[in-house]
Amino acid sequence: MHDSRNIVVLTGAGISAESGPATFRGPGGLWEGERVEDICTPEALARDAALVHRFYDLRRAALDTVAPNAAHVALARLDAEWPGELLIVTQNVDDLHERAGATRMLHMHGELRSALCAACGERAAWDGPLPPGSVCAACGTAALRPDIVFFGEMPYAMDAIDAALARADLFVSIGTSGAVYPAAGFVRTARYHGARTLELNLDPSEGSVWFHESQMGPASALVPAWVDEMLGAD
Ligand code: APR
Repeated sequence: MHDSRNIVVLTGAGISAESGPATFRGPGGLWEGERVEDICTPEALARDAALVHRFYDLRRAALDTVAPNAAHVALARLDAEWPGELLIVTQNVDDLHERAGATRMLHMHGELRSALCAACGERAAWDGPLPPGSVCAACGTAALRPDIVFFGEMPYAMDAIDAALARADLFVSIGTSGAVYPAAGFVRTARYHGARTLELNLDPSEGSVWFHESQMGPASALVPAWVDEMLGAD
């Protein structure tokens, strides 16, 4: 690991789990009578935009109740101090990596604090509620929607991610179940290009078999220890 220069880190919901409750699943896993998985779809947006917007309004508002934890802080320190290439790719739509201070990162599944114009594709920072029919400042169309990559939509920045994976000599996956593609396939892409692969997760993920090394435990403990190791702390 110490010989690595180019690092790609993939994070998922597990890295934010210790930052506070961010779940909206009620009894039976439903929210306002819908499965959460069925809200994050283009079909749901077309069928009931008010419901989908309300769901993301609540999640956006809930960002104020959570804070970065030790795992986010450690990755931000790696970002600041790592002399080689680093790309932190998060599947999370919260803003905890950037609030911890990370800059060499991207949100492949979109961001809660952003709005996307369905008419012109413009993305703009957004805070507070986003009612259906909100007008895009760039093109004037009343077509703003949550800037979230729904199931069946293409994640952001795949070209940049693929390029970084091709150059990586270390790929680290943190707090993700390995159930959702294309992120679940990054470990194999990184290996194909010769990277060593490390998984830091509470439980074995669906892709555990693809990692050279897996450490099981809470991100708030495992990530700071790994970053200390990478930066050569005693
Ligand atoms: N520390 C480390 N890992 C944890 C912790 C923790 N404190 N708590 C939970 N985990 C692990 C779980 O064991 C699980 O493997 O984090 C993983 C979270 O898995 P998911 O809930 O499936 O989240 P994620 O992999 O990010 O989901 C991928 O699916 O819901 C869609 O688009 C959404 O980006 C999301 C994508």
